Amino acid sequence: MRILGIETSCDETGVAIYDEEKGLLSHQLYSQVKLHADYGGVVPELASRDHVKKTIPLVKEALKEANLTSADIDGIAYTAGPGLVGALLVGATIGRSIAYAWDVPAVPVHHMEGHLLAPMLEDNPPPFPFIALLVSGGHTMIVEVKAIGEYQILGESIDDAAGEAFDKTAKLMGLDYPGGPLLSRLAEKGTPGRFKFPRPMTDRPGLDMSFSGLKTFAANTISGNDNDEQTRADIAYAFQEAVCATLAIKCKRALQQTGMKRIVIAGGVSANKQLRLELEALAKKVGGEVYYPRTEFCTDNGAMIAYAGMQRLKNGETSGLGVKAQPRWPIDQLEPIA
Ligand code: KG4
Ligand code: ZN
Repeated sequence: MRILGIETSCDETGVAIYDEEKGLLSHQLYSQVKLHADYGGVVPELASRDHVKKTIPLVKEALKEANLTSADIDGIAYTAGPGLVGALLVGATIGRSIAYAWDVPAVPVHHMEGHLLAPMLEDNPPPFPFIALLVSGGHTMIVEVKAIGEYQILGESIDDAAGEAFDKTAKLMGLDYPGGPLLSRLAEKGTPGRFKFPRPMTDRPGLDMSFSGLKTFAANTISGNDNDEQTRADIAYAFQEAVCATLAIKCKRALQQTGMKRIVIAGGVSANKQLRLELEALAKKVGGEVYYPRTEFCTDNGAMIAYAGMQRLKNGETSGLGVKAQPRWPIDQLEPIA
């Protein structure tokens, strides 16, 4: 079975082809970063319009890269949510239409399940069960994963997502959108220990998190200090350290609570080196292991949608002749795979 996956939930158009036996055959990505940079964040209407322009050309490119034609594709997977409704509708409508034209089924995919399963595309995929730390621009949650579709949310951010906190803090520091990777690069030159940021909600039990206070703490630290390059790097370091330490403390609790030893990190912030180091240190202490996707599959991409779509299609799930676009869609509402 060969699936073409389409991702258009936010500001990246991703298309990929996944083969059940051969694995990933091709993947194409177009980032809208430049389009939104002037506005300091994603402008939903511009995102939708750009997906309209880019999706079909990328489908053609993905087929060409894999040396395939439409006759070689057995199903179309598209991101149905969560995400920006206009952007989702573009991918869903194009995906469903192509499926109709090619006479194959179309399957709606949950974006965060795509992220969660992205490490399955790597050579050393995580065996079930595991704890998943999903850290993206829109969501931050810790999920107990028993199998595909068997997800229990153990904790989540009650306000900003970790990626959102990175982006907002980066913006305060005058960095371009999306600032997460830029802030992280700036932090590499930072002096450990010069500033100390709080670890929100770690002084009380539970696995819920909060990151909006760190942005305010950053704003106060920025305004209370000089704006020289070293100070900026030191603030970036302290902010990143606080986010990563907080996530690691919560993951440690999740491992203790469930008795598990394996951690999967996925979503844009799983590209963060400091976070990977912290969680690797944690896993080492408990004799466990950390799994994450290659960097390009941490952020939004079509490969994870093709992979998740294949699992769902094999389970008999399709959107019939309808189109599904669901901006809010809790991951624990997904069905277990039979
Ligand atoms: O998963 P993703 O591509 O999109 C959503 O589903 O939201 O995640 C994007 C987020 C952005 O907030 C971006 O700043 C953050 O991931 N991000 C990072 C890094 N790379 C991407 N944050 C911190 N460090 C990074 N290296
Ligand atoms: Zn994402």
